[in-house]
Amino acid sequence: MNGPTQVLCVCTVVVSLWLVPLTVGRTTEDPTSLLNVCLRGLNHKEKPGPQDKLFDQCLPWQNHSCCTHETTKELHQGNMYNFNWNHCNQPMGDACRRHFVQDLCFYECSPNIGPWLVGVDMKIRKEKPLDMPLCQSECDHWWDDCKSELTCLDNWGKGFNWTGATNTCPMGKPCFSFAHMFRDAQTFCENVWDHSWKVVDDSKPCMKLLFAPSEGNPNNDVAQWKVNQMIANVAPAAPSSVRIAQFLVFCTLSFLL
Ligand SMILES: *[C@@H]1O[C@H](CO)[C@@H](O)[C@H](O)[C@H]1NC(C)=O
Ligand SMILES: *[C@@H]1O[C@H](CO)[C@@H](O)[C@H](O)[C@H]1NC(C)=O
Repeated sequence: MNGPTQVLCVCTVVVSLWLVPLTVGRTTEDPTSLLNVCLRGLNHKEKPGPQDKLFDQCLPWQNHSCCTHETTKELHQGNMYNFNWNHCNQPMGDACRRHFVQDLCFYECSPNIGPWLVGVDMKIRKEKPLDMPLCQSECDHWWDDCKSELTCLDNWGKGFNWTGATNTCPMGKPCFSFAHMFRDAQTFCENVWDHSWKVVDDSKPCMKLLFAPSEGNPNNDVAQWKVNQMIANVAPAAPSSVRIAQFLVFCTLSFLL
């Protein structure tokens, strides 16, 4: 390769790397726009707001939610997204089920998911959270109430057989206890929904699945913390479009000279 070609190659690679963060998730040019938003999904409201009443375990989000009463009722009583919790032909115990319902309330209702959203192409949603910080204590309670339940997969976000009306265990995947399948609380919380959660120590900013609404939603602060971090990470630089334009000019000149 001669000089100009090498410069061009390097320039192309650098520009591509620069562009990558912009195409993952929502735009990061103004991180504050990630606060107080609803995930783009089948049941989510366009914007968070007050709701007359929310069903049972979803009640904490009533003052400011992305979910409707109908959605919260369905997720307690119906087969949300046709997902079968009892895919090992044994009904999931109530204590364990409550945690999955609480997690679903968070997923449907929380206005604090914005900073962790990444794009996906699915019928039920166009975005999903990735590596949201979940408090270790929340995860431990969830695990303690679920570890003797049965499942055939360690990641419920992929691998189920969806040929029929609901998910079934694929051939060659026998059922085991959660304790055997996931081994520990952290692996369970992080893997079961395909890395939506990342378990972190309670001393760090982390999400609570259940909270007393009278004291406000504690997860607002967690989203704000993440946005502050994003601002700190992008602040010193010019807007990325300007940086890319500058760099392209530099590349063109190097190539011509
Ligand atoms: C999926 O389920 C269908 C219908 O029950 C069955 O015919 C098929 O063999 C299953 N596929 C796998 C990979 O388990
Ligand atoms: C809603 O907000 C009001 C005032 O901020 C508070 O007193 C009330 O407890 C909250 N209720 C719920 C269910 O969030």
